[in-house]
Order: sequence, then structure tokens, then C-alpha cells
Amino acid sequence: MIYYGKKLSSPGEYAQIPGEYRQAQDYTGMYDAAYTPSGTRNLLEPAITVTHSDGNNSLALKYVGHQVKQLNDDVSLLSVELKDPAYDFEVTLYYKSYYKEDVIEQWSVIKHHEKGNVQLRKFASANLCLKGKSYWLRQFHGDWAKEMQPEVSKLTHGIKTLDTKLGTRADLFQPPVFMISLNQPSTEDEGEVLYGALEWSGNFRFDLEVDPQNNLRIIAGMNNYASTYSLKPGEEFKTPPFITVLSNKGKGEASRQLQDWTRKYQIMDGEGSRLTLLNNWESTFFDFNEDKLKALIKDTRKLGVDLFLVDDGWFGNKYPRNSDHAGLGDWQANKKKLPDGVFSLVKEATKDSVKFGIWIEPEMVNPKSELYHQHPDWIIKQPDRPEYYFRNQLVLDMSNPKVQDFVYHIVDNLLTKNPGLAYFKWDCNSVIYNAHSSYLGNQSHLYIDYVRGLYKVLDRIRKKYPHIPMMLCSGGGGRVDYGALKYFTEFWPSDNTDPLERIFIQWEYSYFYPAIATSNHVTAWGKQPLKFRIDVAMMGKLGFDIDISHLSDKDLQFCREAVKTYDSFKNIVWHGEQYRLSDPFTNDVASVMYVDKTKSSGVVFSYLVNNRFGKGSKLPIRFKGLDASKKYRIEEINLYPGTKSTLKANQVFSGDFLMQIGFNPDVNAQRTSVVLKLEEVK
Ligand code: GLA
Repeated sequence: MIYYGKKLSSPGEYAQIPGEYRQAQDYTGMYDAAYTPSGTRNLLEPAITVTHSDGNNSLALKYVGHQVKQLNDDVSLLSVELKDPAYDFEVTLYYKSYYKEDVIEQWSVIKHHEKGNVQLRKFASANLCLKGKSYWLRQFHGDWAKEMQPEVSKLTHGIKTLDTKLGTRADLFQPPVFMISLNQPSTEDEGEVLYGALEWSGNFRFDLEVDPQNNLRIIAGMNNYASTYSLKPGEEFKTPPFITVLSNKGKGEASRQLQDWTRKYQIMDGEGSRLTLLNNWESTFFDFNEDKLKALIKDTRKLGVDLFLVDDGWFGNKYPRNSDHAGLGDWQANKKKLPDGVFSLVKEATKDSVKFGIWIEPEMVNPKSELYHQHPDWIIKQPDRPEYYFRNQLVLDMSNPKVQDFVYHIVDNLLTKNPGLAYFKWDCNSVIYNAHSSYLGNQSHLYIDYVRGLYKVLDRIRKKYPHIPMMLCSGGGGRVDYGALKYFTEFWPSDNTDPLERIFIQWEYSYFYPAIATSNHVTAWGKQPLKFRIDVAMMGKLGFDIDISHLSDKDLQFCREAVKTYDSFKNIVWHGEQYRLSDPFTNDVASVMYVDKTKSSGVVFSYLVNNRFGKGSKLPIRFKGLDASKKYRIEEINLYPGTKSTLKANQVFSGDFLMQIGFNPDVNAQRTSVVLKLEEVK
């Protein structure tokens, strides 16, 4: 890989690039290999390591040929064939380029025709080589309710590895996304920055190696931890795509490219619509019955949202799901809570003209369940060791086709019995301890075959139910990745719905994922007023998880109006361009803007994120993404009943003014959150 950067205007000049570098000697001739094999001349981190069927550990990969297929106007697929001259072993590298969005997906396919199985010990999806003076990594760490905490550091020589070994809920400590800025940390609008993300819902590994020549080698793929894969002759081993987007205009452009690509090519129904909803988790937890849910269905109607989502706690009979200690695995409606099953609720909802959705956590089992006793062999655990529980539960063995079938039928049965069911929230609360499958002969296949099994089930569900919206949840954002998002319409970023925290969490997610995929619920978390909470939740897919019956008349009136207000601009948030205007990490006021593709309307959200004395928007906030030559009317919207805006009504400014000088939303301790609507004046 001799160059990775802005396109040159004369393609003939690419060949002249290497001649311009006078870097230290490469003792291997392959520091910049497009897929670094190990065991021959390599001295650095490999992309692939194997043991051949005869026990030999060496691999050399030589270029054999390549092909470019133009898939459509926007997409081309380059494949590069590599072969080992000494063994009947080959790797094909794939590069799928999306020209308009500037996104590249890359993966590899490994195959051989040796006499016996080959052991794959490392099997990256991508192997990149970047040149720069210095490399600045923005990575993310977290835990429950603390997702997407950013850290920026300068990479030093040697290897920095970002990885997870958790198996399921794999991103609890670290999500499979990162950014590399070249030469200096990029800002929103300046600097060269590469985003990386892996389409994989299990263990991943990114090795970032500053090599002896000061180049940055990035080797990204599934984690090989405890996962040596035994590959049969003739069998293909396909690695999950690694996504990159490179911008030389800062983080903002890169994220808008990625958001566009995601909506167009990756998430389910990315260019479609979404359902606003009322969820009962925070208001009832496990304590509900049919009457309570029927009242909540009425509240859904009252609120004016599209759907009621019943959360955890509706199932289990011998071991009723009245807490998180029992019931997972037994997916029959609890007869005491719901004597007429789920069906009567769906019917009730339909009668009230709202849709009905349901929570499931199909990959899991509580030891207190019938399933645990009936199918101990379906559970991931060590046969002769004590069981360890995460949230009192264990993980089912998705590598086992019988388990795949069971999980598929949880969804299929619910939908067959209740064709009116309109939405699923698919949760996954546990990590894998004691990784052992009673089904697999080869234990080191478990982490990989688990995810492949999960995708098989999701494929099957999507084949039969291509349109039903599903939320991807994992005890909050424990499984937000582009592999899973192919099957889901949205994800749950965090159980932390404190709006102040959410401003930060949603800010970081927004670098990688579009607002249409980000489910935000208004809850009782946090000390901010209702308006603040709703404003924050509007920067994505709006939902509510509060007890409507406890709201004052004025609060209820406000919520109802807010739903209508949201309906009036949600298309801009879902399908428009997002601009992060004022960073909550470095400013007293955070500000985020969405502009529709024709640059004729926009919404700007601003919040006070520093409650010290006298803090507020002292300076105007510069807008972005408008048309300088157009004129825009600015109006404050989503005001709490009885309050008046402090902003002059009907002010009109040019796009030029709003982008050069800006506009002051007048955020202060009395006005902690402000939503502005921009409309072109013709
Ligand atoms: C997880 C989810 C929550 C809720 C609970 C139910 O923690 O993130 O939103 O669904 O499970 O047990």
C-alpha cells in the first residue's frame, strides 16, 4: 500500500510516490504489505498467521492477479488474489469502494487445498499503511451507563491494541470504532482523519503499529484470542468487512459521509421512517399486569406517539420473570400478569390505533428457567466448573443449529400468533464467561461461530420479516456495531438517559452513526426540566419512558405538543446532514445542527452544559451547512407552555451571516435548552 489519502488528479503519478520517501530501510520488503503474512520474511505485526496441514508455520503471499467490477454508478469491487508459492493456500482481498460516500469496506477470503485442515491463528479483515508525521488516536471506552467515553492520545512506536474478549455484549468496555488523525488531532472542520469500524458483533481486534519507518500500520479484524480456526480443504473463511472513511476536512465531513453511507447501504431501512414510542421499562420495571399495560396503551394514544413497547417482564410461568433472576428462556406470556397473552394487548393497541412492540432477550437463559433444566447442553458453560453469572444469566450456544432454530422461533412464534406485532427490542445483557460449547468439536471456534450463528438467525428473520423495525440493545450500548445494524433499524445507545450525560454520549456516537438509528428516550433520569430532556431526546429517534399518568396537566400538554413539533422536523434530523457546532467537552454550551439536503430548512439544538454562575451563550454560535446566498427565518420552537422566547420573532438572516457571525440562542441558567427552526425565506 503505497498511498492512502486524497485522490491525485493524474493517476499516472501514483507510481512516483514511493520515490519521494527517504525513510529508514525496510528489512523485509513488506512493512507496507496489503496483507502481511507471518513465518517467512515478516518482522512486524502480521495480518494472517497459519499452521499448514503438515505443521509448518510459514506463509508467503504473492500477487497473482486482480479484478475490478463496477457494481453500479456508485460502487466498485476490487479483488486481489494472493497465493503462497509453496503451499496450495490463497487469500483474496476485497475492497468495495463507495465513491459518493468515500467509504471503503474491505475483507478477505481465505482458502486452501492442502491435504488436511489448516489452522488459522490470525485472520485480519484489513491491513492498512498510512504515512504521517504523527498519528493521533481517538478511541472510546466505557461500561454500563458510561458508553462512548473518548480518549485522544498520540501513538508511539510499537503497538496499541484495541480489542474485546467478551464474546457477547462485546462492546461493554470498548466499541469496534476508532479514529486516526494524521499529523495533529483533527477538529470538526480541519485535518486529515481516518475513521475505522468493524462489521462484527463479537470479539474484535485493532492493532495500531507505528513501525520502524514511522508509518502507521493498521491491522483490523475479528479477535484471534482463543479463536484458532481449523479450516477444511476447499472451505472458505470470510472475514467481516472493515469500514474506513477518510476526510481531509476534519471529523465533521467524515461523519457525514459515514452517516450517509450507513443510511443508504448498511442499516435496515436507513432511508425510511421510524416509529416514536412509549416504553414502560423505567416506569414499571417488572411490576405490571394486563390492566396496567392497557392503561399504558391508552397513554400512548394520549401522548400521540406511534407505538407502545412492553419491556422485560412479560414472560415465564414456572419461573415468572418478576425480577432479573428468573424466566429468561421461557418465552410464554406470564399467565398471572397477562391471562390473555400478548394477543389481547396487540388487539387493544390496534383498537386504540397505536402499534405494539415487545422486548426479547432471546440469546440468554436464567438458571431459574425451564429451558435451563430442559436443555443444559444448549448453554455456554464449562462442564466441570462452577457457573458464573452476569446479571444472573448465562448465554445460549448460538453455534448450535438447534439453538439457532429455537431463537428464530421465539420471534417467528410471536409474529405468527400476533401478526399485528409491529416492533422488537432485542436485548443481550450478558457477556460470555466459561466459554465452552457442548455442541462444537473444536472449542476455539466458539467465539466466531457464535456470531455467525446469530447472523444466520437474523438473516432468517429478515428473510421472512424484511420490514419489521427492531431495536438493537445490549444492556445499553453493549452491541452497537455495523455487523448487527444490518438487521436493525435502530440501537439503544445507553441505559443512561440523564440528558446531560446523553449530550456527551450522543455526541460521540454521532461521529459514527446517524440520528435515525439512535433511539433516545425521555425518562426520569437527571435533574433537568422536562423540556431539556425532550429536547435532547429529539436529536435522534424520539421515545418516552416516563409515567404519563403522573405528569401534571401542563407537562402532559407539553409532551403532546412536543411530539407534534418533533413530527414537523424529524425528517431533517433523520435524513439531513448533521453538524456538531459547539463541543460539550470544551464549551459551556453544546450545540448540534441538522440541515436538510436541499439546505432549505434546519433545526439547531443548544444546551447549557456548565452550571457554574453566569455561564451561557456569550457569543453567537456559528451555523454550518447552509447556503450562504439563501435567507433563513429563525424561530424558537418547543417552548414549554406559558413561556415566551427571549429571541426576537421573525428574524431573517442570510446563510452567509449565520455561518460567518452566527446566531445567539440565548442559552443561560433560565434557558438551559433551546431549539431553533430555520426555514428558507424565498
Ligand atoms: C437492559 C436494557 C434496558 C431494559 C432492561 C430490561 O438493561 O438496556 O433498556 O430493557 O435490560 O431488563
